[in-house]
Amino acid sequence: MKKDAALDALLLPWQQRLVSFAQGNTLFLRAREGAALQALRALEPLCVQPFKPWADALGRAGFEVLPEAPQAQDFAQVLVLPPRQREESRALLAAAFDACMAGGWVLVSVANDEGAKAIEGDFKKLAGGFDGQLGKYHCRVFWARRDDARLDAGLLQQWRMADAPREILQGQFASRPGVFAWNRVDAGSALLVAHLPQGMTGRAADLGAGWGFLADAMLQKNPGLHALDVFEADARALALAERNLRRYQQDIRLGFHWHDVTAGLPAAARYDWIISNPPFHDTGKAAQPGIGQAFIRAAADMLAAHGAFWLVANAHLPYEALLMERFASLRVVAATQGYKVIECRQVRR
Ligand SMILES: C[S@@+](CC[C@H](N)C(=O)[O-])C[C@H]1O[C@@H](n2cnc3c(N)ncnc32)[C@H](O)[C@@H]1O
Repeated sequence: MKKDAALDALLLPWQQRLVSFAQGNTLFLRAREGAALQALRALEPLCVQPFKPWADALGRAGFEVLPEAPQAQDFAQVLVLPPRQREESRALLAAAFDACMAGGWVLVSVANDEGAKAIEGDFKKLAGGFDGQLGKYHCRVFWARRDDARLDAGLLQQWRMADAPREILQGQFASRPGVFAWNRVDAGSALLVAHLPQGMTGRAADLGAGWGFLADAMLQKNPGLHALDVFEADARALALAERNLRRYQQDIRLGFHWHDVTAGLPAAARYDWIISNPPFHDTGKAAQPGIGQAFIRAAADMLAAHGAFWLVANAHLPYEALLMERFASLRVVAATQGYKVIECRQVRR
């Protein structure tokens, strides 16, 4: 099990009896599985985690997990591991106080190098102060009871909407803070689109589709496609992709899958075309080529014999050996601006 300092630190105030939790009614926003979570099991926390691999890990460990927070406002304690993106974390703090009953606890933990100072400042403003704070394992942990006399109701109202979906790129798409490249086109994806062929027909898939930029470009260029499956692990991004691609649903069968591509694709009919700009990070900052390699395996496993897999990746990522193992024909279509676009054909089983 991977070390998770923010999770370990989060439970310290409770373990050190600085706060006392009531039985039941525990909400854990952006919950992550880890050794420290075992201590919380007796409280049967309701976990919320939009990222499918982490949601799956929580489910496998026996925790109840949802991709988004429920509407209920009667939780006696709300635990939060906020993301780094500022608007998203502000909205999450607002959601935590909304979900917490009057007098209940909101506890937050953030790694120092994940924006702890800024988020701690935001929490203090919103809650109207702290009931406690500590620093441990290179993280900040802070907590407060929900006290409506000191809670900043105006800020609460404002931050509820801090990460709300909105129009981007001159109204062409909807997006929201926190999803990958939320208000711009990723340079790698732009390069792939510039080289994507026209005249595609049959079934296609986009692996790690984000808010739908690549998939949209593929459908615009290729009206002959009759089905597209969109696979994305981030439930927030997937909902945006669904919204952004809605305009094609008259003409093509669209499938939206909240799915961990590294676990392989569901075994259905094979795809004639697969496109991907695979991720290469999960929690840390270090590149993890294993994630992109798992995407390549998933694509190769589900590509039709005559099909083509179009991939864009940062030039330094070591994908070639695996690509040569899984495809008899590789063509570097572009190698520029630190990216490579590769067309892979003649899949080997
Ligand atoms: C480099 S981004 C590309 C996004 C989009 N295709 C674009 O061009 O803007 C990779 C995407 O993969 C998603 N992702 C990360 N891990 C994943 C996994 N295990 N399974 C499926 N999608 C994943 C991320 O949430 C992100 O949206």
